[in-house]
Parts: sequence; C-alpha cells; structure tokens
Amino acid sequence: MTHVLCPGSFDPPTLGHLDIIAAAAELFETVTVAVVVNPAKTGLFTVPERLALLRAVTASIGGVTVDSFDGLLVDYCTAHGIAAIVKGIRTAADVAYEQQMAQMNAHLSGVRTLFLPTAPEHAFVSSSLVKEVARLGGDVSSLLPPAVTEQLLAKVRG
Ligand code: PNS
Repeated sequence: MTHVLCPGSFDPPTLGHLDIIAAAAELFETVTVAVVVNPAKTGLFTVPERLALLRAVTASIGGVTVDSFDGLLVDYCTAHGIAAIVKGIRTAADVAYEQQMAQMNAHLSGVRTLFLPTAPEHAFVSSSLVKEVARLGGDVSSLLPPAVTEQLLAKVRG
C-alpha cells in the first residue's frame, strides 16, 4: 500500500489538516489530497482557491499531490489505484461520524480507511470554527498556515 487519499472540504485548510497530510506523507509513498466538491454546498473559498492554498501549503512535503473531484470517494480511489483513505481524528465524535463512512466505503469497494489521531494542539480546530471566529474578529493566525490566514482575513474583511 503506497498511495493513499486524504479527502476533505478544506474550506479552508488548517494546521490540523496539514499535520495529518504530513503524517500520511511520512508513512506512505504518495498522498493525494483531494478537495471533494459538494455541489449542494457553497464554501467561503472556491474550489480553485482551496486547491491553490493546498498546493502552496503542501509544496514542501514530498510525495503530495493535490486534486479535486465530484462524486464518490471510492470511485476516485478505484480510478487512481488508491489503496486506502486517511482521515484525521480529533474527538470521539469524529470516530462515530467517520466510522460509518469508513464502513460504507469498505462495503462499496473494499477500500479501507485509516484513522490518524491529530496532534493534541489541533484537536479543537475545524474549518467551520476558524471561519466563525475570524468573521467575529478573533485571532485564528495560530491555527492556520500564514497564507491561509491572509486570504481568510481578506475574505471576512472584504
Ligand atoms: O472535510 P469534510 O467536510 O469533513 O469532508 C467530508 C468528505 C468530503 C470527505 C465526505 O463528505 C465524502 O467522503 N464525500 C464524498 C462523497 C462520498 O463518497 N460519499 C459517501 C461517503 S460514505
């Protein structure tokens, strides 16, 4: 197993995401970070903006490629010869939510999901909370890569 997928909305990517991507890149030869496009959900960042941010913040991590797709995760894995999905786990609530998806994905295709615990300092970090705090004027700079903070502040101020 050398090629794994780190999927998500990444609206925007946080230091928690980056920690999991870096950990996956240490363990596996190739990591595809995929922005999953949800046509029913308008994000704060467009998909091209999220891709550009992910490419910038993962540029120094070897073996990482960035892509986006619209559809079933398992179809993307099958089409690209990806053996497993890697997900970061922050809390027990994440386990409950992710376990159901992992079991569905295994049922659909046999693609397995590996759970990696996030570093404790990122356990409370989510893209949604970071956006809310930034909108309300809070300081989120310690939770995001600098390029993401800059663009998030431009969006919430603009
Ligand atoms: O960052 P998020 O929003 O928690 O990511 C959730 C995501 C995009 C990974 C999840 O919604 C997903 O896997 N979507 C792809 C569509 C799919 O395969 N659905 C069936 C999942 S069992």
